[in-house]
Order: sequence, then structure tokens, then C-alpha cells
Amino acid sequence: MVLLKNINELKVWCASQKSIGFVPTMGALHAGHLSLVKAATLQSETVLVSIFVNPTQFDEVEDLENYPNTLDDDLTLLKASGVSAVFLPDFDQLYPDDYRYQLSENDFSMALCGAHRPGHFDGVLTVVMKLFNLVKPAKAFFGEKDYQQLRLIRGMVKAFFLDVEVVPCPIIREKDGLAMSSRNMRLSKKEREIAPQLFKIISSGQSIERMQKMIEAAGFELDYLTTQGDRLLVAATLGEIRLIDNVPYNNLRTLKKPVELRSVETCPSKPSNVE
Ligand code: PAJ
Repeated sequence: MVLLKNINELKVWCASQKSIGFVPTMGALHAGHLSLVKAATLQSETVLVSIFVNPTQFDEVEDLENYPNTLDDDLTLLKASGVSAVFLPDFDQLYPDDYRYQLSENDFSMALCGAHRPGHFDGVLTVVMKLFNLVKPAKAFFGEKDYQQLRLIRGMVKAFFLDVEVVPCPIIREKDGLAMSSRNMRLSKKEREIAPQLFKIISSGQSIERMQKMIEAAGFELDYLTTQGDRLLVAATLGEIRLIDNVPYNNLRTLKKPVELRSVETCPSKPSNVE
């Protein structure tokens, strides 16, 4: 497995590859990330993973400062997964402009997580565009765990005629149902016991109003619980840690019993075809 520490090394390596499957990450890897790597190895000749904790997508300094760094373990996992190369850039390499140039979307990125995390998706889209331009992957793999991110990246690829296929990968969960996330390791013992309730509740088939009450009663502070196309999306904070999750959702259920949602942001003007 080749370690590429700067853009020159990356460019030389990429130029010698026929077709690259790309998995962008921020490290602190778990089985969710590794499922993307697995999909990439099955679908691509060579697999490149990037690890870069992208500061421009963090809206809170503490969240950035506390973001786990497990680089040695990450590299061991990636090597064992058959990854061809890992790109490990630093801020100065990726942001020679010091983030004066930014990519933004001005509709769907403002809703849901975007409404609670100003500038978050601008940071995500900007860094992913930079990485796509450098790597020029044939395919790029993203998790459905970050459903809004996935939709926005697909929209960006379409809007800018990028020649990359975005491959969605299903959510990987702990045995108790909690969606895997690098932030889970920051939950206290008590919070970790409560956390799986979020998935249990959103897959319970209750009305949205009832689920809202159940989430709050379990001890979460609810950011939003809303449908987007065929998905039910949730974001809720437990102690200091913000958790997101989503499940497939049958629209008929909401149509039968429309509910005026509390804690839900203004939905985007083009909910189902924002891409
Ligand atoms: P990060 O949170 O490290 O996630 C990297 C990729 O792993 C994303 O596509 C995310 O959706 C996927 N992922 C995380 N947890 C998952 C799970 N439980 N099941 C399936 N997939 C999962 O997302 C980012 O990094 C950044 O925003 C990035 C795209 C790298 C840009 O900085």
C-alpha cells in the first residue's frame, strides 16, 4: 500500500493507474468506512482512500479539535483491506487559496443538517471537488449514512458535468442498531446505552409526531425528524454528540396522516429532485 503525502506524489501515482475507485474519509475508520472500501475493491481495479479531517466543514471548533485521530490503526485496516494507496494531504496542500474559493449549493444544503451547521456543506462540497479534480476517479463511494451529503455530492457531479460515478453504500450498524460513526466513541457509557434508541424509534412505524415524542423522552435533543423522498431522516443530540440516521420510509404512511412537524426546518423548495 502506497502512502501519498502530497499532491505531486498523488498526481504521479494517479497518472499511472487505469481506473481508480475512490473513498474519501476523515479517518477514525470503522466498519462503515470499510464497507465502502470493500465495495470499491469489488468494483475497481485500484482503490485510493483519502484521510483528511477537513476543517472547513466543521462549524464548531470543539468538534474539530475533538475529532478522533487513529491514523496508525486506520492504515493497518486499509492495508488489510487490499487498498492500493492512501492520500494523506494537509490543509496547506489542499487549500493553497486558504479557502478564499468555495463551492456552495444554495437550496438543499441550507435545510436539515445545513440549517444547524452553517457552512458545513460548502466545506464538504469544496473539499470533495478538490479531491475529485486531483484524483479523477472513475467511481467514488459514499455512505447513505450521510444521506444529505450523498445527495448534494450527486447534485454537484451533475451540475459540473464531472466524469465520476457516485456509488451509494448502505448504512452499517452496530449489533444494537446504532449507525456506526467516528463520533460514537465520544459517547459516555450511559449515552452509548441510550444511543441505539434513535434507530429503534425511527424504524418503529409510528407516526412522526409520536416518534418525535419518543426521541425526546429517550433523552435526545431533536434537531429534525422529517421525510425526504423515500427516507425518514433524523438528527438529534445526546449530551455533546450529534447523531444522524435515516431509514427507508413509505410515503403513504405520511400521506394518510399529515403531521405539522415541530423542530423541522423549512424544507427545500425542490424536495425530491434537488439533484
Ligand atoms: P467521514 O465521516 O469519515 O465518512 C466517510 C464516508 O464514510 C462517507 O461517505 C460516509 O457516509 C461513510 N460512512 C460513515 N459511517 C458510515 C456507516 N455507518 N455506514 C456506511 N457508510 C458510512 O463524510 C465524510 O467523512 C466527509 O464529509 C468527506 C466526504 C470525507 C469530506 O470531507
